[in-house]
Amino acid sequence: MSSHPSSHPSSDPISQARSKKSLFVRTYGCQMNVYDSERMTESLAPLGYEPASSPDGADMILLNTCHIREKASEKVFSELGRLRQIKDAQETEGQRTVIAVAGCVAQAEGAEIQRRAPYVDIVLGPQTYHRLPEMVARATRAAGAVLDTEFPVESKFDHLTAARKVEGCSAFLTVQEGCDKFCTFCVVPYTRGAEVSRPVEDLTAEARTLVAKGAVELTLLGQNVNAYHGMGPDGGEWGLAKLIGALADVPGIERIRFTTSHPLDMDDALIAAHRDIPQLMPYLHLPVQAGSDRILKAMNRKHTADDYRRVIDKLRDARPDLALSGDFIVGFPGETERDFEDTLRLVRDVEYAQAYSFKYSPRPGTPASMAHSHVDEAVKSERLAALQDLLNRQQVAFNRSKVGTVQPVLFDRAGKRDGQLVGRSPFMQAVHADAPERLIGRVVDVRIEEAHPNSLAGTVVTDVVDGVPRSEGRPPNRPEGNMPERVVA
Ligand code: 5AD
Ligand code: SF4
Repeated sequence: MSSHPSSHPSSDPISQARSKKSLFVRTYGCQMNVYDSERMTESLAPLGYEPASSPDGADMILLNTCHIREKASEKVFSELGRLRQIKDAQETEGQRTVIAVAGCVAQAEGAEIQRRAPYVDIVLGPQTYHRLPEMVARATRAAGAVLDTEFPVESKFDHLTAARKVEGCSAFLTVQEGCDKFCTFCVVPYTRGAEVSRPVEDLTAEARTLVAKGAVELTLLGQNVNAYHGMGPDGGEWGLAKLIGALADVPGIERIRFTTSHPLDMDDALIAAHRDIPQLMPYLHLPVQAGSDRILKAMNRKHTADDYRRVIDKLRDARPDLALSGDFIVGFPGETERDFEDTLRLVRDVEYAQAYSFKYSPRPGTPASMAHSHVDEAVKSERLAALQDLLNRQQVAFNRSKVGTVQPVLFDRAGKRDGQLVGRSPFMQAVHADAPERLIGRVVDVRIEEAHPNSLAGTVVTDVVDGVPRSEGRPPNRPEGNMPERVVA
């Protein structure tokens, strides 16, 4: 059985070859899951697991799951059905395949997974990822499944961040986890637990490591990121604005973003940060979910539509070019045509650059799922189509408004066409331009010439001096104290 860790660290070349194992990871859902999958993969490297691009032939298959909407968790069960076939086929050839299910479906439906998919070896919730190597070692030795979905006191971050790798120039940094808001439709407070913030010094240290490994952009993650209240170096409690200030002082960090925020936690300091901290990008994902006060109340959002409008006004006063994104749920129990009209009106007032919208899906155990007044599926579909039509038109208009402007673009990867790079504008738009690969990881000025529904295209601005193009971008790790400078026309 090639997947078993050798019980005797041996010089025998055959057992050494056997100790190399392949790990296939499939990630569903949010960016926090992407971050967690990276950390779990790194934590298994010392056991000899190397990433595989397909589940076929893998020694271990890890599904990092999402429970936010019904479709997401049903996808997991159908994927598990397919994986069982792979596992059975490999077992007949004498190869053991470990199947692990992590993430929010594991947390919320651990017992259900063990019942419906008894061939799953490991079920682990988001707070126990640092115990994965131990669980894998146990599962490869023992028969019988391992279930670990407790909320332990010790922090997984103490164990999981030491070996961080950075792919590309943009890195996630989890600053906060969990949620205490208890919106009545949402599983997150149950699957991710109570709000926990990491200390500022741990985060600045991790940020420095990330810069050393090539990151120039940080996206701060948290289910309720702007409720961040971590311990500061002075022993006091710091909010997100102060944390962003400290991260902006880490040499080499050129761009900072954060997601996802709650309107109630958008305090004045954070609004001012959008005006005062040049590295903080003018893009904000601020979900409102609905525009009707009656529905907002039933959702337990604890704010009205006008409270949200006021927050947006303050943000735009601080940062007039701020691009806004949001999340919307249509067909929440009891939603009438009039309530839905209120949502459309709010969307028209705010004018989003981009947004996500969903049909309400009842999640087991949440208060809203127990309501009696569920909205007809056909009505939900109609409302979703109308809302998405409006949001798409706003997105196209926002993209078009950038045509003719010069935008600083952080190139992060090669494009599909030869000689083309893709990057992000400050407003999170994907931007395509012809540019040499050495500009990956640099912020370069691009004149925007075309707007598409989901991207922009343009030309790198070359400021030619004495025949020498100066649009070389700047080195990713600018020396301490230097202000960011850009190559301009
Ligand atoms: N049904 C539909 N959408 C939901 N979301 C969260 N829970 C549900 C649900 N039960 C959406 C919200 C949230 C986003 C991440 O997913 O809009 O902001
Ligand atoms: Fe879920 Fe966000 Fe509400 Fe928390 S604030 S319960 S994560 S929707």
